[in-house]
Amino acid sequence: MKSPLFLKPLLAGLFFAVASAWPAFASGPAGSAPPIPRLERVGNQYHLLVDGKPFLILGGQAHNSSASNPKDLEPVWRSLQALHANTAEVPLYWELMEPKPGQFDYRLMDAAIEGARTHSLRLVFLWFATWKNGGMDYAPAWVKENPQKYFHVLNDVGQPMDILSPFCRACRQADADAFAHVMAHLKREDAAHRTVIMIQVENETGLLGTERDYSPEANRRFRGLVPAALMNYLQSHRATLAPSLRAAWQAAGQRASGTWPQVFGRMADEAFSAWYVARYVDAVAAAGQRAYPLPMYVNNWLINPGNVRPGDWPSGGPTRHVLDIWKAAAPHINLLAPDIYLPEFEQICEAYARPDNPLFVPETRFSPSYAAYAYLALGKFNALGFSPFGIDHAVEDGKLTARAAPLADTYRILRPLLPLIERFQYSDKLFPVIQNVDWAQVLRVGHGLAAVVTFPQPYTLNGPWGRGILIELSPRDYIVAGTGFHVSFREQHGPRQRAPLLSIDQGTFQDGHWVFRRRLNGDERHIFLPPNRGRILRVRLLP
Ligand code: DGJ
Repeated sequence: MKSPLFLKPLLAGLFFAVASAWPAFASGPAGSAPPIPRLERVGNQYHLLVDGKPFLILGGQAHNSSASNPKDLEPVWRSLQALHANTAEVPLYWELMEPKPGQFDYRLMDAAIEGARTHSLRLVFLWFATWKNGGMDYAPAWVKENPQKYFHVLNDVGQPMDILSPFCRACRQADADAFAHVMAHLKREDAAHRTVIMIQVENETGLLGTERDYSPEANRRFRGLVPAALMNYLQSHRATLAPSLRAAWQAAGQRASGTWPQVFGRMADEAFSAWYVARYVDAVAAAGQRAYPLPMYVNNWLINPGNVRPGDWPSGGPTRHVLDIWKAAAPHINLLAPDIYLPEFEQICEAYARPDNPLFVPETRFSPSYAAYAYLALGKFNALGFSPFGIDHAVEDGKLTARAAPLADTYRILRPLLPLIERFQYSDKLFPVIQNVDWAQVLRVGHGLAAVVTFPQPYTLNGPWGRGILIELSPRDYIVAGTGFHVSFREQHGPRQRAPLLSIDQGTFQDGHWVFRRRLNGDERHIFLPPNRGRILRVRLLP
């Protein structure tokens, strides 16, 4: 369905000429259910297909407890609508959905689906089960009360921790069975609608507080050989391994087989935990996919500043060190996703946006500054989506809060541009603008042009920041969209001059087509995106 890369610019041009091209492949025969959402890979390009069309998520995640009473989801829906979001991320709790073994209660799930539909939102469900933030808080009481059967991780001095052991087959079976029931119910409820487009399996997996499990079975396996499947994966992916994993393997002699300490040396504990946590999560995901094969991902608690060793972060979660181990261990997981609360947003995207892993930002800081990163994630890293955490109270007394306003403004600008951005992802036609300490930035756009971006308001650490995106429609035809910056186009070669402007129009896009609103000329003949309220401009330059 997607075109090869070299055809992209050409087809993108045609996109404007052929007005009805976009919706043409939207749905199947009249009256039939829309196709199941899926992640499509063509070469190293990824597209989340919803109703058969590429879909980018402008999301927001509810607070952890908001889905335990449908009333508490009301502000979530209101907030997401006011934010111009298109998708809600909402938890499903194993403990409440299976209060007794084999007895399921789907009412909270059904209420969330209904709420999303009523508010014209898509849903991503988050399966809070064996793991939540490196612990087991969401396991049902009957699991917690029976540690003999559902045994826990032991730390290095043999004390049980509040973490179910990744070596506990009964735990894995119980989680997988529950998840399969949940997915089967979802299929019954949603196959005709496809409100739910993706599933997060567990939440921030890994072992918080220990580098690995020291239970007897874990110790036995740690002293045993690294499974051949992982060794083969390392050998066949040697050229593309994450640098830290490759370095650890090399430092240990780049062996073709051996025990975990022999193969991974200083990274043995984290590599070991990653393999067995990922194998466990993969079994859960596989059971769910047998029932209803939606795209599934795993989110990650990142390594924080000040962390010294695994266990300071949940050891075995898909950190940047062990992404390859997860890829080898968890073929039913479509992607590994960073929860980005750290200031190094861009470097984290770089680590997770890989040819074998599309970027999705399932959680990020809900703050005036981080709103800008939506442009960066979608525009530079071809992200499938972006979703700040804890958006429940974006609206208070009927008004957007100061904290929420920059995100609402960003999503308001991005929403009509999504088909366009999706079309131009993986090309060199998207240029995000994110204000930083520099008072000006140069974007070397194509065809000998430079876009010089300046910011009318000074940079402050907590934002809001000037933010937006330039989209090259054709060599002298640009969309300049966003908030809080000026642009002047200059020639990179020849006479030192501004590129001569033909016209500046303000407008929007509807179903992928430009909708003219007004011409900016005379006193308004500037490529200016005001602070506080963004706009979409179409700028044409003389050849
Ligand atoms: C990351 C977790 O994944 C969320 O569920 C939530 O606990 C946030 N941290 C809170 O900051």
